[in-house]
Amino acid sequence: MRGILLAGGSGTRLLPLTTINSKQLLPVYDKPLVYYPLSVLMLAGMREILVITNSLHIESFRSLLGDGSHLGLDLQYAVQDEPRGIAESLLIGREFAGDEDVCLILGDNIFYGQGLPAALHNAAETVDGCTVFGYPVSDPERFGVAVLDGDGELVDIVEKPTAPPSNIAVTGLYMYSNDALGYAEKISPSARGELEISDVNRLLVQEGRGRIVQLGRGNAWLDAGTHDSLLEASQYVQVLQKRQGMQIACLEETAFRMGYIGMDQLSELADRLSTGSMYGRHVRSLVEA
Ligand code: TTP
Repeated sequence: MRGILLAGGSGTRLLPLTTINSKQLLPVYDKPLVYYPLSVLMLAGMREILVITNSLHIESFRSLLGDGSHLGLDLQYAVQDEPRGIAESLLIGREFAGDEDVCLILGDNIFYGQGLPAALHNAAETVDGCTVFGYPVSDPERFGVAVLDGDGELVDIVEKPTAPPSNIAVTGLYMYSNDALGYAEKISPSARGELEISDVNRLLVQEGRGRIVQLGRGNAWLDAGTHDSLLEASQYVQVLQKRQGMQIACLEETAFRMGYIGMDQLSELADRLSTGSMYGRHVRSLVEA
């Protein structure tokens, strides 16, 4: 399975922060937002990853993440020149995917939880059509919401419903079998002019090829699309890291623990990071331990 990290968009809800900056490069506590979804793809076992962003910011992403080889990754880049919708990433990423299945993650989504890597590994092995990841929320009317039958199977997805059929939001993490990528060609732009990912997913669900994996209580799902949610995400990361003395989404650590790089490479990466930062000290402490 190959990964697609979608990090374009216009970030209008974060203006003026996003006047010149990409939303996904803004800080969430001690590291850029994009580190969080990238680490999720890495934990799910993906090493070939396509970063899609707009032409204004692509060089900044390249400066930050490079070709990924220092992390044992193969990172490629593609431009979405206008934010024509999340589903367009499936078309942009089609050539990159080749014959492989795809895991798509939105660049402003943060997932954290102990069971997450295993849940992602299992889902990746069985994807046929689409697999979406559901998370219970108190305000489902703001999201794409899963409609479930009595057995908890996915039967529909409704976008921002006024009367939500469940409290299970569809998060910004999706898996597609290779043949499903072309479904993005079958849909038309919505009233807001975007190719909606929910429309692709709904088509697959209607064919009986849509599945939901529910992320339970032990997991956190945050998005950082508004000023409040961006601040709350920072606070969440700060509290957890300070309390546990661990790092969330430390790419060097993830690469090492996943076996993508060895100790020599980790040590080199630690040398490049200043121990003046908590992040740098953490990477150094891994080498010393
Ligand atoms: P959104 O938060 O829906 O849109 P946005 O980032 O443009 O922000 P705003 O609503 O404030 O204007 O996007 C979710 C994620 O998907 C985010 O990481 C940006 C990305 N995205 C794209 O890369 N291309 C797109 O065409 C769209 C719609 C979103």
